[in-house]
Amino acid sequence: MVHVNIFDTTLRDGEQSPGVNLNQLEKLEIARQLERFGVDIMEAGFPASSQGDFEAVRAIARTIKNSSVTGLARATKSDIDIAWDALKDAAEPRLHVFIATSPIHMQYKLMKTPDEVMQTAVDMVSYAKQRFPHIEWSAEDASRSDLDFLVQIITKVIDAGATVINLPDTVGYTTPEEYGRMFRYIRENVPNIHKAALSCHCHDDLGMAVANSLAAIENGVTQVEGTINGIGERAGNASLEEIAVALNIRKDRYPYTTNLVLKEIKRTSDLISRFTGMKVPGNKAVVGKNAFAHESGIHQDGVLKNALTYEIITPEMVGVQSNDLVLGKHSGRHAFKDKIEQIGFDLSPEKLNEAFTAFKQLTDRKKEVTDEDLFTILIDIQTAAVDVKKYELVAFQVQYASANLPTATVALTTPEGIKVETARTGNGSVEALYNTLEALIKEEIFLTDFNLSSVGSGRDALAEVHVKMTVNGTKVSGRGSAQDVLEAAAKAFINAVNRVFFNQTIAVKESAL
Ligand code: KIV
Ligand code: ZN
Repeated sequence: MVHVNIFDTTLRDGEQSPGVNLNQLEKLEIARQLERFGVDIMEAGFPASSQGDFEAVRAIARTIKNSSVTGLARATKSDIDIAWDALKDAAEPRLHVFIATSPIHMQYKLMKTPDEVMQTAVDMVSYAKQRFPHIEWSAEDASRSDLDFLVQIITKVIDAGATVINLPDTVGYTTPEEYGRMFRYIRENVPNIHKAALSCHCHDDLGMAVANSLAAIENGVTQVEGTINGIGERAGNASLEEIAVALNIRKDRYPYTTNLVLKEIKRTSDLISRFTGMKVPGNKAVVGKNAFAHESGIHQDGVLKNALTYEIITPEMVGVQSNDLVLGKHSGRHAFKDKIEQIGFDLSPEKLNEAFTAFKQLTDRKKEVTDEDLFTILIDIQTAAVDVKKYELVAFQVQYASANLPTATVALTTPEGIKVETARTGNGSVEALYNTLEALIKEEIFLTDFNLSSVGSGRDALAEVHVKMTVNGTKVSGRGSAQDVLEAAAKAFINAVNRVFFNQTIAVKESAL
């Protein structure tokens, strides 16, 4: 069996999904979960792209010990220097440096000749090698590059010190046969290829990212890159959970091992979907809600007689609990603590108290509190910023009658600790509420997206709202949950606004270090 390294880029390529905007605490929480999932390498961000990315990569590099942490850099000295500053405290600092190699990218984007690209690639790998023990070099748009040019440039960057050669299908254009053939050609024609590992990185524009990745593995690639839930630029990246399960279920065809813990798939997928606001479609392979649902009578009958008739993956294999048995009004602190540990949370004593209070409040309104409900409460508490000046909701009221204009009254405390209160109307209850919040919050706000969903089923299900907005010109997203849809909407709005203060506070704290 050949071992395949798993390289997760959810926090970099995944975070490049339109509208996705994670704060440092959320990124850290995702990084910890990726470590539990067993990824070999995680790309924590693109340190030179923003102060926020730099700080998140640095925090993750300092925290994660059982996966190698990497960060992306363009082929420039300043990107590499910034990446080093962010990654130098990692257990195993690793750089991911890239330059485009396709004729169209070199001519129109880089405005460089192939020789200039080759020289830049070699110079920057040599430069990075002075510090980084591990260097992954990527040929952006490799699948549309000239094969003989790839052979030459790869030979030279390996000589310069690259330890991994990644050949991305950047625009999701290739097919499994073509992509596999490219790797075969490289293996057969690059004389020093034995000194580096080959890696694949696929985008899903034609829906072939996973198939292309598997074809690459069959053709000698020993590192596969992708994201959880397949999130990423445009149509996204290859879904790591799909690749992991395909390798496991079809061992007969794919004799490869990974370090992944398949039981962590569901939690990893849930966490990323909640934090990013990118819902997993019901029919998504492996992690969709319907992935294990058998609807037709014929199928149900078959599954009852022998599950293997229609079920190739068991829910348990990927961590979907069949008995998410439930806490209620009479559950004590002990049962609560056991339960939250069981669903993967390790809270500080203060956060545990806060979580228990929130749980008790929920049991006053909801008879049965499910794992999904707890997960929703706990991710909010786990990633709540402390010591940050922020707006806080004190109370609100919304009056709605079918014949009248809805009116909202809201009381808030401002980041300066002053209590403010006002009322506004709107064409609907949410609009009235948001008009009122906007009147109270002295920032310039444009709401660009609002999404409401329920957590689980039943008329007493929790509501979850995701919003996107610009606050003082910065794009942010926000998340809020509550049993009442309006309360969830208010929390999401305030959560989005507070992210601006959170980012500022973190930047000030980090720059003081
Ligand atoms: O898709 C791509 O080419 C990339 C590179 C930066 C590796 O994400
Ligand atoms: Zn990519």
